[in-house]
Amino acid sequence: MFVFNNIKNLQQHLSSINDDENIGFVPTMGALHEGHLSLIKRAQKKSDIIVVSIFVNPTQFDKPEDLVKYPRTLENDLKLLETVNCDVIFTPTVDEIYGDTIQSTSFTFDGLEHQMEGKFRDGHFDGVGTIVKRLFEIVKPTNAYFGEKDFQQLQIIKKMVEKHKILINVTGCEIFRENDGLAMSSRNTRLTKEHRLAAPFIYKTIKKAKKKFKKKSPKKVINWVKKKFKKHSLLELEYFEIADEKTLQTIEKKDSDKKYRAFIAVFAGEIRLIDNIKL
Ligand code: PAJ
Repeated sequence: MFVFNNIKNLQQHLSSINDDENIGFVPTMGALHEGHLSLIKRAQKKSDIIVVSIFVNPTQFDKPEDLVKYPRTLENDLKLLETVNCDVIFTPTVDEIYGDTIQSTSFTFDGLEHQMEGKFRDGHFDGVGTIVKRLFEIVKPTNAYFGEKDFQQLQIIKKMVEKHKILINVTGCEIFRENDGLAMSSRNTRLTKEHRLAAPFIYKTIKKAKKKFKKKSPKKVINWVKKKFKKHSLLELEYFEIADEKTLQTIEKKDSDKKYRAFIAVFAGEIRLIDNIKL
């Protein structure tokens, strides 16, 4: 396993790869867990060389304290990556990526960026677009893999690739969950014991909402979820929305030929957790 923290050395290494070998790329912010590893395993099915980046991207954090507190566990991450036979790891410094100006570029993603996470996390998707585009330019993969855990992010990356005519296949991978249903996330390690025990309620509730959606209107389902969380003493609902999978626009009425997904963001103490489910 090769580990590079500088662009030049990484590119030199990648340039020695034969033309008929293709690169699969999995961008991450580290604090790796099995969810990340599931993306790598998926990438390995289709790619000859796997590149994983570990970079806590400052421009996508809307709250400075969240950036400071974001878990950084590089030593452990590298050990985990060894276990899945990862080929190349890219762990650049902020300086290597941004130089003197830690700033994001402004993107338009045809409105995808104004929904859900975009409403609650100012500038978040400009930060994500900036770093992913930059990493794509550095690594130049054939395929890139993103989790449905961050479904809006996945759709936005697909839109960016289409709009900027970037020749990379973007593949979405299923949400990997703990045994109790909680979607794996680097942020889960920051939950208190009490909040960790309470957190599976999120997936349990959206699973029930999925069942209700078969017979009930979106509005009724949304109100039911809101009520459930109002009664919960440890978890605070930020949003629960039912939206078209493609446009991410919330819906009032169901249309039989469209695909829908429910999206949720919840505070467990000071930790913000997100999840979603195909309806
Ligand atoms: P990070 O949160 O580290 O996630 C890296 C990738 O792993 C993302 O594509 C995310 O959707 C996926 N992932 C996280 N938890 C998952 C789970 N439980 N199941 C399946 N996939 C999961 O997302 C980011 O980093 C950043 O925004 C990044 C794209 C790296 C840009 O900085």
